[in-house]
Amino acid sequence: MSSATRLAIHPLRHPEGSKVDFGALVTGIDIEKLTDADFDLVRTALFTHQVLVIKNQSHLSPRAQFALNHRLDPSAAPSYGHGSQKGRGTDRSILHPDLKTIPHQPQVQVIGNGFVAAYEGLENITLRHPHHRTFHATTIPAERDLTHTRFYRWHIDAALYGATLAPPVVTTLLAVQVPKGRRQICQYEDDGAGDGDELDVPLGTTAFVSGETMYGLLSEADKAFARTTRVEYAPHPYVWMSAAKSRADGLGLVSEGKEVPLDDLPPWEDAELQILPMCWKNPVTGNLALQIHPSAVRRLHLADGAVVDDLAEVRAIVHRLQRPGIAPPFVYPHDWEEGDLVIFHNRGVLHSVVGAFAEDEVRLFRQCNIAGSTFPVGPEGTAAA
Ligand SMILES: [Fe+2]
Repeated sequence: MSSATRLAIHPLRHPEGSKVDFGALVTGIDIEKLTDADFDLVRTALFTHQVLVIKNQSHLSPRAQFALNHRLDPSAAPSYGHGSQKGRGTDRSILHPDLKTIPHQPQVQVIGNGFVAAYEGLENITLRHPHHRTFHATTIPAERDLTHTRFYRWHIDAALYGATLAPPVVTTLLAVQVPKGRRQICQYEDDGAGDGDELDVPLGTTAFVSGETMYGLLSEADKAFARTTRVEYAPHPYVWMSAAKSRADGLGLVSEGKEVPLDDLPPWEDAELQILPMCWKNPVTGNLALQIHPSAVRRLHLADGAVVDDLAEVRAIVHRLQRPGIAPPFVYPHDWEEGDLVIFHNRGVLHSVVGAFAEDEVRLFRQCNIAGSTFPVGPEGTAAA
């Protein structure tokens, strides 16, 4: 508890059996009227706890939401984390249909499910939550469709292409409208007969895992590999992957040769490719997080200069490193309530959308992130190539 304010940070209490060691509830704070002293506490708490939950922020304006993001990376240009979608030939991006931009605050996007007549200058919009039938290589049988769900895509919010579009430091998510009541079983593997990992989740949860935990679970040999390997992402990765399907556990894609050939992508150049460290250093604690976007990765650059460019092999290596960190005890599935503002350290966690909604279940969220002012720093203090 700060002596100057009523702000308090409460580490989240996770259910029995959980091994989640991140997340905190921040109380006594109004993000719309954030003082400098409170901001400093929030910033430190964010990099310490990775995910912050602030209740009762329904009144938060898009402007104040953006201002919070920008204050957490004040040198960043005020542009959305994926850059402008216009004029770059990226209409084929898998992200394109899921985002509606708020006209008066273009760094803030509306996402969700169902029809919304009017919201913040947007009119008659239909929001589309992904569905496992279109996202994954295999489907959940129809008889389990309402009761079971999957992780869609474990990811970092990042363009991963473009010399000026560094991964955003933070993402903020505001729950404006949330359908409540149901829970679902999130099923990891193809076989739903009960012999794979499962996790009980609230409908439409956002699931988080810690990149620091993911790193900590590695063997010493794998830690050394992760500390010295760099990850090359595909050019226009969200177009490149647009026809490929997710693994059942949402942790990367299956390799069926469905990626858009590099020659068929929108124009791209080597200088715009992103080759990032596999581990990113926390700017406050110095801890390392294993931070790989498993669906966008295309090649691995090893310490000895060798390049692994067989896509199936690259994906197998990345999946082997990441999978222990998404096991059920390490997942925090946030149970959204209207007015929740969640601020997460996008360079220290991975997250995934979960759940299948009925058409009449309206879900409306506001998301903001801005491209980072600098690229993530790896273990040796070297910036990305
Ligand atoms: Fe995201």
